[in-house]
Amino acid sequence: MSSERKFPDGFTFGVATAAYQVEGNIENDWSDWERAGKCKDPNARCGLGVDHWNRFDEDVQLTKDVGATAFRVSIEWARVEPERGRVDEAVLAEYRARLQRMQAAGVRPVVTLHHFTHPKWFHAQTPWHEPASVAEFRRYARLCAEQVLRGLDALVITFNEPMVLLLGGYLQGVIPPGIADGARAVAALANMGRAHAAAREEVHAHAGKLPLGISQNQLAFAPDRMWHPLDRALVRLGSEAYNHAFLRALCDGELRLFMPGIASARVRLDGARDSMDFLGINYYSRAHLRFVTKPPYLDFRFKDPRKRGLTDIGWEYYPDGFGQMLREARAYGLPVWVTENGVDDRSGERRCRYLYEHWLQLLDAVAGGTDVRGYLHWSLMDNFEWLEGWGPRFGLYQVDFQTLERKRTPACDYFRTVATTRTLMAPPDGSSWK
Ligand code: FCB
Repeated sequence: MSSERKFPDGFTFGVATAAYQVEGNIENDWSDWERAGKCKDPNARCGLGVDHWNRFDEDVQLTKDVGATAFRVSIEWARVEPERGRVDEAVLAEYRARLQRMQAAGVRPVVTLHHFTHPKWFHAQTPWHEPASVAEFRRYARLCAEQVLRGLDALVITFNEPMVLLLGGYLQGVIPPGIADGARAVAALANMGRAHAAAREEVHAHAGKLPLGISQNQLAFAPDRMWHPLDRALVRLGSEAYNHAFLRALCDGELRLFMPGIASARVRLDGARDSMDFLGINYYSRAHLRFVTKPPYLDFRFKDPRKRGLTDIGWEYYPDGFGQMLREARAYGLPVWVTENGVDDRSGERRCRYLYEHWLQLLDAVAGGTDVRGYLHWSLMDNFEWLEGWGPRFGLYQVDFQTLERKRTPACDYFRTVATTRTLMAPPDGSSWK
């Protein structure tokens, strides 16, 4: 029915980025990690990023040129507080001025306070597994509230993908701080929950009642062997622990984590009850889980059972999972924002089809009763992809990494048409998934 193909009134289309991946010239825990040769390509350096720091206004214009009216950016804590207690007021003022210009240009700021990276001193002095981390984050959030966000009409995201930080940084040890320890992981997650609640208090006290939430990475899960009861049990445990445990903690104030042999806990998080005004969902793919007999007792892989081809980064192309995550989100009774969704498409030819099939899922979920308010595409432009470095291309705009020139891909026009008409039409001829 054609009426089902219209996005709701007031629905927002936007784009998403994160400071470290685009701004350039940032010194933080991740730049140290690169120099220590711990990324997939030990020689990869983020360096100048895509020079977003110097091209901010141009990038706001590119955002407008795809019909987007929201732009997700992050504040880099390491710029704000390069040494513990030494605050760079000029940096805060600069972030504020930029966001004011963005807003004046008709683009709503969506501001992430913490997107994976930390000042260099953080892990040595007040790491997440120590209670002191909560007060540090509160202080930083207050600075952002008073000196950046005050009076803006922004959406605020405290943490981007806390479960990714936890898995990568505290269980597998492959991203900073490079710890692999279940007990510390639980303590860290609990403190991030408390820090989120503390940040909300600061933002609401000093910047106004801005809607605030987190961005949760949601994975669809499937058993690696359909017939295997333990693989199937892992799917239930994985979905609960990875997708839901932290969100529930921010709703009812208690973190209940059950990952047998990895990390389990039941901890109260003071102040965290009802601490999200919206739910931010980042969706990319589905993972197949397989029980193995050695710790951590599970193996995780991307497969292509439907033969639709993996995305270029090697993740399963699985739009149905997006619909599933949005339907599950309904249980929280909160407005939902898709704060990231996108594809590593190095040819630039598959993104339109990707968008179309994911938007269909989104509209189905809306028809089913999920209150989705907006969709922010990852990403406005190609950028530095963490452990993968400069290989992936997630951008609506393709960036020449030598000249840093931004070029439109076919998805720019398609995105613009859908965003400005709020109507989902089929992608242009020739845009197929495979
Ligand atoms: C998400 C991250 C984002 C980007 C995309 C591809 O997990 O939040 O920074 O790297 O993946």
